[in-house]
Amino acid sequence: MPPTLPIPLHNSPMVILTGAGISAESGIKTFREAGGLWENHPIEAVATPQGFANNPRLVWQFYHARREQLKTVSPNPAHHALAQLQQTLGPDDVFLVTQNVDDLHQRGGSAPQAVLHMHGELRKVRCRRCGTVTETDAPMLPDPEGPLPTCFDTACGGALRPHIVWFGEVPFGMDDIAAKLATCSMFVAIGTSGVVYPAAGFLAAAKHQGATTLGFNLEPPENAELFDYFVQGPAGQTLPDWVDTVLETLAC
Ligand code: OAD
Repeated sequence: MPPTLPIPLHNSPMVILTGAGISAESGIKTFREAGGLWENHPIEAVATPQGFANNPRLVWQFYHARREQLKTVSPNPAHHALAQLQQTLGPDDVFLVTQNVDDLHQRGGSAPQAVLHMHGELRKVRCRRCGTVTETDAPMLPDPEGPLPTCFDTACGGALRPHIVWFGEVPFGMDDIAAKLATCSMFVAIGTSGVVYPAAGFLAAAKHQGATTLGFNLEPPENAELFDYFVQGPAGQTLPDWVDTVLETLAC
Protein backbone atom coordinates (compact mmCIF):
# COMPACT_ATOMS: atom_id res chain seq x y z
CA MET A 1 0.00 0.00 0.00
CA PRO A 2 1.32 3.49 -0.77
CA PRO A 3 2.57 4.99 2.54
CA THR A 4 0.95 8.32 1.76
CA LEU A 5 -2.71 7.39 2.28
CA PRO A 6 -4.49 9.66 4.76
CA ILE A 7 -5.26 8.70 8.36
CA PRO A 8 -8.47 10.03 9.95
CA LEU A 9 -8.02 12.25 12.98
CA HIS A 10 -9.21 11.14 16.43
CA ASN A 11 -12.85 12.12 17.09
CA SER A 12 -13.22 13.36 13.56
CA PRO A 13 -16.22 12.05 11.62
CA MET A 14 -15.76 10.09 8.44
CA VAL A 15 -18.35 9.03 5.84
CA ILE A 16 -17.83 5.73 4.05
CA LEU A 17 -19.88 4.92 0.94
CA THR A 18 -19.85 1.36 -0.38
CA GLY A 19 -21.15 -0.06 -3.65
CA ALA A 20 -21.48 -3.39 -5.40
CA GLY A 21 -17.70 -3.74 -5.80
CA ILE A 22 -17.19 -4.39 -2.08
CA SER A 23 -19.38 -7.49 -2.30
CA ALA A 24 -17.99 -8.71 -5.63
CA GLU A 25 -15.31 -10.86 -4.01
CA SER A 26 -18.05 -12.51 -1.94
CA GLY A 27 -19.67 -13.69 -5.16
CA ILE A 28 -22.44 -11.11 -5.59
CA LYS A 29 -22.67 -9.72 -9.11
CA THR A 30 -22.09 -6.02 -9.67
CA PHE A 31 -24.51 -4.14 -11.92
CA ARG A 32 -22.63 -2.53 -14.78
CA GLU A 33 -19.57 -4.67 -15.39
CA ALA A 34 -19.48 -7.36 -18.08
CA GLY A 35 -21.87 -10.11 -16.95
CA GLY A 36 -23.39 -7.72 -14.36
CA LEU A 37 -26.99 -7.85 -13.18
CA TRP A 38 -28.24 -5.18 -15.56
CA GLU A 39 -26.88 -7.06 -18.58
CA ASN A 40 -29.58 -9.73 -18.50
CA HIS A 41 -32.33 -7.92 -16.61
CA PRO A 42 -33.78 -4.72 -18.06
CA ILE A 43 -33.79 -2.06 -15.31
CA GLU A 44 -37.26 -0.83 -16.36
CA ALA A 45 -38.70 -4.34 -15.94
CA VAL A 46 -37.24 -5.32 -12.54
CA ALA A 47 -36.15 -2.12 -10.78
CA THR A 48 -38.89 0.48 -11.30
CA PRO A 49 -42.38 0.94 -9.77
CA GLN A 50 -43.80 0.72 -13.30
CA GLY A 51 -42.06 -2.62 -13.86
CA PHE A 52 -43.61 -3.98 -10.66
CA ALA A 53 -47.05 -2.68 -11.61
CA ASN A 54 -46.76 -4.26 -15.08
CA ASN A 55 -45.39 -7.63 -14.03
CA PRO A 56 -45.01 -8.24 -10.26
CA ARG A 57 -44.31 -11.93 -10.85
CA LEU A 58 -41.22 -11.18 -12.95
CA VAL A 59 -39.97 -8.74 -10.31
CA TRP A 60 -40.55 -11.24 -7.49
CA GLN A 61 -38.78 -13.96 -9.48
CA PHE A 62 -35.77 -11.63 -9.83
CA TYR A 63 -35.65 -10.70 -6.12
CA HIS A 64 -36.48 -14.23 -4.94
CA ALA A 65 -33.40 -15.48 -6.83
CA ARG A 66 -31.22 -12.73 -5.34
CA ARG A 67 -32.53 -13.40 -1.81
CA GLU A 68 -31.81 -17.10 -2.14
CA GLN A 69 -28.31 -16.44 -3.55
CA LEU A 70 -27.54 -14.13 -0.61
CA LYS A 71 -27.92 -17.14 1.71
CA THR A 72 -25.02 -18.85 -0.09
CA VAL A 73 -22.37 -16.09 0.20
CA SER A 74 -20.21 -14.75 3.03
CA PRO A 75 -18.61 -11.42 3.90
CA ASN A 76 -15.06 -10.87 2.66
CA PRO A 77 -12.04 -9.14 4.29
CA ALA A 78 -13.24 -5.70 3.15
CA HIS A 79 -16.51 -6.04 5.10
CA HIS A 80 -14.61 -7.31 8.14
CA ALA A 81 -12.11 -4.44 7.93
CA LEU A 82 -14.85 -1.78 7.90
CA ALA A 83 -16.57 -3.46 10.84
CA GLN A 84 -13.30 -3.39 12.78
CA LEU A 85 -12.87 0.30 11.94
CA GLN A 86 -16.40 1.04 13.19
CA GLN A 87 -15.95 -1.03 16.35
CA THR A 88 -12.67 0.73 17.16
CA LEU A 89 -13.51 4.33 16.28
CA GLY A 90 -17.24 4.11 17.05
CA PRO A 91 -20.18 4.29 14.64
CA ASP A 92 -20.59 8.04 15.22
CA ASP A 93 -17.14 8.65 13.77
CA VAL A 94 -17.49 6.06 11.00
CA PHE A 95 -20.82 6.68 9.27
CA LEU A 96 -21.30 3.77 6.88
CA VAL A 97 -23.78 4.24 4.05
CA THR A 98 -24.16 1.53 1.47
CA GLN A 99 -25.91 1.31 -1.88
CA ASN A 100 -25.88 -2.45 -1.46
CA VAL A 101 -29.00 -4.36 -0.54
CA ASP A 102 -27.11 -7.38 0.80
CA ASP A 103 -26.42 -7.84 4.53
CA LEU A 104 -22.70 -8.55 4.27
CA HIS A 105 -21.66 -5.47 6.29
CA GLN A 106 -23.75 -6.75 9.21
CA ARG A 107 -22.56 -10.33 8.82
CA GLY A 108 -19.00 -8.95 8.63
CA GLY A 109 -19.43 -7.44 12.11
CA SER A 110 -21.01 -4.00 11.65
CA ALA A 111 -23.91 -3.37 14.03
CA PRO A 112 -27.26 -3.38 12.16
CA GLN A 113 -28.03 0.18 13.31
CA ALA A 114 -24.58 1.31 12.14
CA VAL A 115 -25.24 0.62 8.45
CA LEU A 116 -27.53 2.90 6.42
CA HIS A 117 -28.95 0.98 3.45
CA MET A 118 -29.91 3.88 1.21
CA HIS A 119 -31.21 1.55 -1.54
CA GLY A 120 -33.08 -0.78 0.81
CA GLU A 121 -32.47 -4.33 1.97
CA LEU A 122 -32.90 -7.61 0.15
CA ARG A 123 -33.91 -9.50 3.29
CA LYS A 124 -36.80 -7.12 4.00
CA VAL A 125 -40.23 -6.95 2.42
CA ARG A 126 -42.87 -4.23 2.75
CA CYS A 127 -46.65 -4.37 2.66
CA ARG A 128 -48.05 -2.04 0.03
CA ARG A 129 -51.25 -1.61 2.03
CA CYS A 130 -50.21 -1.25 5.71
CA GLY A 131 -46.57 -0.29 5.14
CA THR A 132 -45.18 -2.83 7.62
CA VAL A 133 -41.56 -3.73 6.93
CA THR A 134 -40.58 -7.29 7.83
CA GLU A 135 -37.19 -8.95 7.81
CA THR A 136 -37.58 -12.54 6.69
CA ASP A 137 -35.55 -15.31 5.13
CA ALA A 138 -38.65 -17.20 4.03
CA PRO A 139 -38.67 -18.01 0.30
CA MET A 140 -40.85 -15.33 -1.28
CA LEU A 141 -41.77 -17.16 -4.48
CA PRO A 142 -40.71 -20.81 -4.10
CA ASP A 143 -42.98 -21.76 -6.99
CA PRO A 144 -42.39 -19.26 -9.81
CA GLU A 145 -46.02 -19.74 -10.89
CA GLY A 146 -47.39 -19.84 -7.30
CA PRO A 147 -49.29 -17.13 -5.44
CA LEU A 148 -47.59 -13.76 -5.03
CA PRO A 149 -46.56 -12.95 -1.45
CA THR A 150 -49.05 -11.14 0.77
CA CYS A 151 -48.82 -9.34 4.13
CA PHE A 152 -47.79 -11.44 7.14
CA ASP A 153 -50.74 -9.85 8.94
CA THR A 154 -53.52 -11.94 7.43
CA ALA A 155 -56.10 -9.38 8.57
CA CYS A 156 -54.39 -6.92 6.25
CA GLY A 157 -53.67 -9.24 3.34
CA GLY A 158 -52.08 -6.50 1.23
CA ALA A 159 -49.59 -7.28 -1.52
CA LEU A 160 -45.95 -7.37 -0.45
CA ARG A 161 -43.12 -5.75 -2.38
CA PRO A 162 -39.36 -5.97 -1.96
CA HIS A 163 -38.05 -3.32 0.50
CA ILE A 164 -35.82 -1.99 -2.27
CA VAL A 165 -35.51 1.56 -3.60
CA TRP A 166 -36.29 1.38 -7.29
CA PHE A 167 -35.36 3.92 -9.94
CA GLY A 168 -37.65 6.91 -9.61
CA GLU A 169 -38.04 6.42 -5.82
CA VAL A 170 -36.32 8.45 -3.10
CA PRO A 171 -33.44 6.67 -1.33
CA PHE A 172 -33.64 6.16 2.43
CA GLY A 173 -31.86 8.35 4.97
CA MET A 174 -31.04 11.31 2.72
CA ASP A 175 -31.36 13.88 5.55
CA ASP A 176 -28.97 11.94 7.79
CA ILE A 177 -26.54 11.48 4.94
CA ALA A 178 -26.61 15.19 4.03
CA ALA A 179 -25.93 16.14 7.67
CA LYS A 180 -22.96 13.77 7.88
CA LEU A 181 -21.57 14.92 4.53
CA ALA A 182 -21.75 18.53 5.70
CA THR A 183 -19.50 17.86 8.69
CA CYS A 184 -17.21 14.97 7.74
CA SER A 185 -13.46 15.44 7.64
CA MET A 186 -12.88 12.40 5.46
CA PHE A 187 -14.92 10.68 2.75
CA VAL A 188 -14.13 7.18 1.52
CA ALA A 189 -15.84 5.48 -1.45
CA ILE A 190 -15.37 1.77 -2.04
CA GLY A 191 -16.44 -0.30 -5.06
CA THR A 192 -18.89 2.05 -6.70
CA SER A 193 -18.96 3.21 -10.32
CA GLY A 194 -20.02 6.75 -9.41
CA VAL A 195 -22.81 6.97 -11.97
CA VAL A 196 -26.04 6.53 -9.97
CA TYR A 197 -27.31 9.66 -8.22
CA PRO A 198 -27.79 10.81 -5.55
CA ALA A 199 -24.97 8.57 -4.20
CA ALA A 200 -22.67 9.57 -7.07
CA GLY A 201 -22.85 13.17 -5.82
CA PHE A 202 -21.65 12.45 -2.26
CA LEU A 203 -17.96 12.58 -3.25
CA ALA A 204 -18.29 16.08 -4.74
CA ALA A 205 -20.35 17.30 -1.76
CA ALA A 206 -17.80 16.05 0.76
CA LYS A 207 -14.86 17.43 -1.19
CA HIS A 208 -16.59 20.77 -1.65
CA GLN A 209 -16.95 21.25 2.12
CA GLY A 210 -13.29 20.41 2.71
CA ALA A 211 -13.17 16.68 3.44
CA THR A 212 -10.18 14.61 2.40
CA THR A 213 -11.39 12.12 -0.21
CA LEU A 214 -10.16 8.57 -0.70
CA GLY A 215 -11.30 5.92 -3.18
CA PHE A 216 -10.83 2.15 -3.44
CA ASN A 217 -11.96 0.58 -6.71
CA LEU A 218 -11.00 -2.06 -9.23
CA GLU A 219 -11.03 0.55 -12.01
CA PRO A 220 -11.04 4.35 -11.77
CA PRO A 221 -14.75 5.28 -11.48
CA GLU A 222 -16.52 8.05 -13.41
CA ASN A 223 -15.76 10.69 -10.77
CA ALA A 224 -12.18 9.53 -10.04
CA GLU A 225 -10.70 13.01 -10.54
CA LEU A 226 -12.43 14.14 -7.33
CA PHE A 227 -10.42 11.75 -5.16
CA ASP A 228 -7.41 13.21 -3.34
CA TYR A 229 -6.15 9.63 -3.01
CA PHE A 230 -7.12 6.60 -5.08
CA VAL A 231 -6.18 2.96 -4.58
CA GLN A 232 -6.79 0.67 -7.56
CA GLY A 233 -7.36 -3.04 -6.92
CA PRO A 234 -9.77 -5.51 -5.30
CA ALA A 235 -11.17 -4.01 -2.10
CA GLY A 236 -10.81 -7.31 -0.24
CA GLN A 237 -7.05 -6.88 -0.57
CA THR A 238 -6.51 -3.12 -0.54
CA LEU A 239 -8.94 -1.98 2.15
CA PRO A 240 -7.72 -4.19 5.05
CA ASP A 241 -4.18 -2.82 4.55
CA TRP A 242 -5.40 0.76 4.92
CA VAL A 243 -7.60 -0.07 7.93
CA ASP A 244 -4.66 -1.85 9.62
CA THR A 245 -2.48 1.22 9.07
CA VAL A 246 -5.20 3.52 10.43
CA LEU A 247 -5.72 1.43 13.56
CA GLU A 248 -2.00 1.05 14.21
CA THR A 249 -1.41 4.79 13.76
CA LEU A 250 -4.31 5.85 15.95
CA ALA A 251 -3.24 3.38 18.66
CA CYS A 252 0.18 5.09 18.93
P1 OAD B 1 -21.75 -0.84 -10.31
O1 OAD B 1 -21.98 -2.22 -10.83
O2 OAD B 1 -22.25 0.29 -11.12
O3 OAD B 1 -20.19 -0.60 -10.06
C1 OAD B 1 -19.41 -1.51 -9.34
C2 OAD B 1 -18.02 -0.91 -9.20
O4 OAD B 1 -17.24 -1.79 -8.38
C3 OAD B 1 -17.25 -0.77 -10.51
O5 OAD B 1 -16.68 0.53 -10.58
C4 OAD B 1 -16.18 -1.84 -10.45
O6 OAD B 1 -14.95 -1.45 -11.09
C5 OAD B 1 -15.97 -1.96 -8.96
N1 OAD B 1 -15.47 -3.28 -8.50
C6 OAD B 1 -15.75 -4.50 -8.97
N2 OAD B 1 -15.14 -5.45 -8.27
C7 OAD B 1 -14.44 -4.81 -7.29
C8 OAD B 1 -13.60 -5.23 -6.23
N3 OAD B 1 -13.34 -6.51 -6.02
N4 OAD B 1 -13.05 -4.27 -5.43
C9 OAD B 1 -13.30 -2.95 -5.65
N5 OAD B 1 -14.08 -2.50 -6.63
C10 OAD B 1 -14.65 -3.41 -7.45
O7 OAD B 1 -22.34 -0.82 -8.83
P2 OAD B 1 -22.74 0.44 -7.91
O8 OAD B 1 -21.88 1.61 -8.18
O9 OAD B 1 -22.84 -0.05 -6.52
O10 OAD B 1 -29.10 0.77 -7.51
O11 OAD B 1 -24.18 0.73 -8.44
C11 OAD B 1 -24.94 1.74 -7.84
C12 OAD B 1 -26.40 1.42 -7.94
O12 OAD B 1 -26.72 1.12 -9.29
C13 OAD B 1 -26.83 0.17 -7.21
O13 OAD B 1 -27.04 0.37 -5.83
C14 OAD B 1 -28.10 -0.18 -7.90
C15 OAD B 1 -27.64 0.00 -9.32
O14 OAD B 1 -28.60 0.29 -10.26
C16 OAD B 1 -30.39 0.40 -7.48
O15 OAD B 1 -30.77 -0.70 -7.76
C17 OAD B 1 -31.31 1.52 -7.05
